[in-house]
Formats: sequence, C-alpha cells, structure tokens
Amino acid sequence: MATSDERVIDFLNEMLTYELTLINQYWLNYRMLDNWGLPGLAKVFRDLAVEEMEDADHYVERILFLDGHPNLQRLGTVQVGEGPVEQLRLARDAERTAVERLNAGIALCVEVGDNGTRELLAEAVREEEEHYDYFATQLEVLERVGEQNYLARYAMPEST
Ligand SMILES: [Fe+2]
Ligand SMILES: [Fe+2]
Repeated sequence: MATSDERVIDFLNEMLTYELTLINQYWLNYRMLDNWGLPGLAKVFRDLAVEEMEDADHYVERILFLDGHPNLQRLGTVQVGEGPVEQLRLARDAERTAVERLNAGIALCVEVGDNGTRELLAEAVREEEEHYDYFATQLEVLERVGEQNYLARYAMPEST
C-alpha cells in the first residue's frame, strides 16, 4: 500500500510504545499481586497485559501495511505502584491517557483522510474506554466498601 502520512505512522509508533510499556507494567503488577496473595486481582492484570499485547500487534501490523517501520526498541516509564490500590489508580490513569491519545489520533486521521487507520483507532478507543471504565468502577467500589473488604474479595483465585 502507498506510504501514508508520516504523522500517522509516527502516531501509530507512539501508541505501540504506549502498549509495550503497559504490557510490562501490567505483567509486573500481575506477578506482584500474585506474590501478595491476591491471585484474583493478579489474573485481571495478567489478562489485560495479554489484551494490550494484541493491541500492540495490531499497531505493528498497521505500520507495516503503511510501509512504515514499527519501533519495538522504545519503552516508556513503567509505573509499578507500591501497593494494589496504587496499581489500580495507575492503571485507571494509564487507560484514560490511552483514550485521550487515541481520540487525538482519530482527529489526525480525519485531517489526513486515512480512514483505514481511523477505523482501527476507533475500535481501539472503545476497548480502552472499557479498560478505563473497569478500573474507575473498581476504585469506586473500593471507596465504598473499604480497602480491606475489597482486597479480601481478590484473595481467592476464583473470585474474579
Ligand atoms: Fe491497549
Ligand atoms: Fe488498555
């Protein structure tokens, strides 16, 4: 396919970096939560890391399709979080940022008339909105029932 606007490829590479960073963050959170005896919550992060990996794959595929070079060398700052609640907050904020970035990327695609990429990003933004909503809801529940009660629920592997 003909080379797309360079800005679109740059944007896709930025999203790729973002996903690669979150894969690492969520995977580390998964292992830490598991180590803290919260296998239920650990599994949530593990599953999410795999979903973000699929997202990264979609960006790699699209960049190659547009005759660009997917950059897998770059990684952002992995924000680990000192405890489960901070990890939930960091994840919520990261997902909110993903939504904001994708919306900006969609605007760029509209501007340059790249509807194929726009469609890919539109699908991605819906998924990231769901991720954001999940963590935002978890934090609301946590606020309501208290940290002890909330975490007790995730101390069991089958509680997700
Ligand atoms: Fe993602
Ligand atoms: Fe996400």
